[in-house]
Amino acid sequence: MLKGKVALITGSTSGIGLAAAHVLAEQGINLVLHGLMSNQEGTALAENFTQQYKINTTFSNADLRDPDSIHTFIDNAITKMGSIDILINNAGIQHTESAINFPLNKWNDIIAINLSASFHTIQKSLPSMQKNKWGRIINIASVHGLVGSVNKSAYCAAKHGIVGLTKVVALENAEQGITVNSICPGWVDTPLINDQIKAISEKENLDFEDAKYNLVTAKQPLPEMMNPRQIGEFILFLCSDSARSITGSSLPMDGAWTAQ
Ligand SMILES: NC(=O)c1ccc[n+]([C@@H]2O[C@H](COP(=O)([O-])OP(=O)(O)OC[C@H]3O[C@@H](n4cnc5c(N)ncnc54)[C@H](O)[C@@H]3O)[C@@H](O)[C@H]2O)c1
Repeated sequence: MLKGKVALITGSTSGIGLAAAHVLAEQGINLVLHGLMSNQEGTALAENFTQQYKINTTFSNADLRDPDSIHTFIDNAITKMGSIDILINNAGIQHTESAINFPLNKWNDIIAINLSASFHTIQKSLPSMQKNKWGRIINIASVHGLVGSVNKSAYCAAKHGIVGLTKVVALENAEQGITVNSICPGWVDTPLINDQIKAISEKENLDFEDAKYNLVTAKQPLPEMMNPRQIGEFILFLCSDSARSITGSSLPMDGAWTAQ
């Protein structure tokens, strides 16, 4: 059922997005790969996927802080691949600092990349999904779309925003065969959280692995960081026909972080 569909995954050059790309490619889903790397590296990455999985791929390094670049990115992807059937808004950045000291440029970048970019990709992708009467939009939010943590004002504002955007777009497309959901992960082992682990390591004089354990267990009852592939498998389930009634949801995958 999913073989031959086209998935666009923002931020698929690293971490969760890259793992999700492998999981979807294994099912014969064609891919629009995207992220901050040179055109040469990105084209090579896409070529590797094409060779390994016998699928069609393309790559873009559009900067998600720029709405015009996002529009061109989506237009080119539709022209090249024919449609976008599955949109995974995954790209994101982090910066931690108290609200009173939070740098304005970091605030603007986090809101642009972690929130507004998803509005732009959704707006540009919906017409082709509506035409086909089928679509899957999956936003990678965070537990921080459901709860707050100190020093994460911009990140929490953006992720709570994504949860709201998910509900509205789901309501507006409920009769169109399009589902719209957010996944809200706890700690996932990717480069995004390295600075936070290093900060604990320096402050508490711990090696990297012990600092990582402390970071996880400070919030998550389940004392284990998730592997990015686990999120990829959850994405695949949300794309399946079995998940067609799940829409408008923001689904924690968080080792009971938000059960407390
Ligand atoms: N790692 C975690 O613990 C965790 C937990 C919950 C949610 N998330 C969310 O998961 C998503 C993926 O994060 P990750 O952990 O895989 O991070 P990552 O740092 O491994 O990957 C981030 C991706 O976003 C892309 N990106 C960053 N800035 C960009 C920009 N200006 N324009 C275009 N692309 C840009 C990068 O190139 C990269 O491909 C993010 O939205 C993040 O908030 C991560």
